[in-house]
Amino acid sequence: MNRLMKKETKKEELIGNLGNNMARSSNSRHFHEMDINERLDYLKEYCLDDNDLKLLAEGISLENAARLSENVIAIHGMPLGIATNFKVNGKNYLVPMAIEESSVVAAASNGAKYALPEGFTAEWLGNVTVGMIQLKVQEPQAVKRKLMRMKSDIIEWINDTASSIVKRGGGARDVTFSIVKTARGPFVVVYLYVDTVDAMGANTINSVCERLAPRLKETVGGDYILRILSNYAPEKVARARATFSKDLLGEDCIERMLDGYALACADIRRATTHNKGIMNGIDAVAIATGNDWRALEAGAHAYAARNGRYAPLTHYEKDTKGNLIGTIEIPIQIGIVGGITSVHPTTKIALKILGVTKAQELACVMASVGLAQNFAALRALAVEGIQRGHMELHAVNLAMAAGAEGKKADEIAKRMVAEGRISLEYAKRLLEEYR
Ligand code: MEV
Repeated sequence: MNRLMKKETKKEELIGNLGNNMARSSNSRHFHEMDINERLDYLKEYCLDDNDLKLLAEGISLENAARLSENVIAIHGMPLGIATNFKVNGKNYLVPMAIEESSVVAAASNGAKYALPEGFTAEWLGNVTVGMIQLKVQEPQAVKRKLMRMKSDIIEWINDTASSIVKRGGGARDVTFSIVKTARGPFVVVYLYVDTVDAMGANTINSVCERLAPRLKETVGGDYILRILSNYAPEKVARARATFSKDLLGEDCIERMLDGYALACADIRRATTHNKGIMNGIDAVAIATGNDWRALEAGAHAYAARNGRYAPLTHYEKDTKGNLIGTIEIPIQIGIVGGITSVHPTTKIALKILGVTKAQELACVMASVGLAQNFAALRALAVEGIQRGHMELHAVNLAMAAGAEGKKADEIAKRMVAEGRISLEYAKRLLEEYR
């Protein structure tokens, strides 16, 4: 067995020990049962080295943070957790999630557990990023015809401009032309379809659009207005699927979940919350891996309304044996190179923990996280409701908001949970008692 294979086998064994699988050994513990130091020790054995742990503890320096954004005064921290139980296309993953909302990481891990032993099967259509150039011309029809005749030249111009992407196996895949009628008259819009390989592609596409626009102006006259990528990304759709066993869920639970799902299909008020839950998971992975979660949000909700009616991004039905089949179809605009993915230290480590080698793999994991998150929320809502579990996890936030620190905050939270009285007022009263 070569070194790489040995390393992978060791990682599989370690994940098995977390208890997501039949492979769990008797002395193993779940990730959530460990304290923070034990979790870090575990990750060291799993894939991190001492330098990674140091970077993880330090995070980004203020100096470098000031290089990422403007008018910087501090670093705004956020908890980075690990979701467990994710098996996607036969491979086990530990999934880093950066999120401040309690219950999300726990729910994702719980949802993924119900998909075992098979886990999720997922696919991604690919990383074609679309850019648009808006042309204001006297004779839109004639200009459109002229541009269509020049299609192969335009493709060549794009590839000249984006030569670094071409070298990595990407490049222009297509160019299309439309006349878009607006309140200010018709515009010719040129859409560029560029495969940006493992990068999300925003910078590449924007540069290509800005460089190409003057060339088009020179060729067809008129003027160019906007030159920018589009965050509507059906070309980047990812699909994931899982079977949630009837034996684990019970028939009644499945019926209740299907009733809840039917409401999301019929009522935009529910559909929006349903999709918000999906994005809880996807955004958290995006933030952890240095991806643009605003692009994901915009693209997801636009896709949810693609048929003229806002709809859930997941689908549920029963198979012939009565198991619940869950699927998700969602555009995933991400990359594993470029942007801050290779600049921000925590992001680099998150990608290392995930162990993804291609954007394709990350997109498949993210779609699976979205499905697991949605499944877990729907199951909890359809059965016991989410508030008890959520408030138990939220109790410590309330204790901190009341002014408690460290172990005191944990003790107050524990007491509130035990007494079933979880509120800020009660946390304040208990803190007084401790003083
Ligand atoms: C809360 O952040 C997300 C949920 O509201 C999602 C849902 O209702 O499906 C629990």
